[in-house]
Amino acid sequence: MIVCVCNNISDREIRQAVDLGLSSMSELHHELGVGTCCGKCTSCAREVLHAHLESK
Ligand code: FES
Repeated sequence: MIVCVCNNISDREIRQAVDLGLSSMSELHHELGVGTCCGKCTSCAREVLHAHLESK
């Protein structure tokens, strides 16, 4: 599923980034551009990020 429509970032890509060591929204902003355009994806991206961090 696409989380960030503006930057075409999927939940899978966010989980892969977490697996590579990202652990915060600011890192997702900088590395993937998530939330840097309209910002509508921020809460969904945060949920995906935290769910995956907690599953590790
Ligand atoms: Fe992510 Fe717009 S959907 S910045």
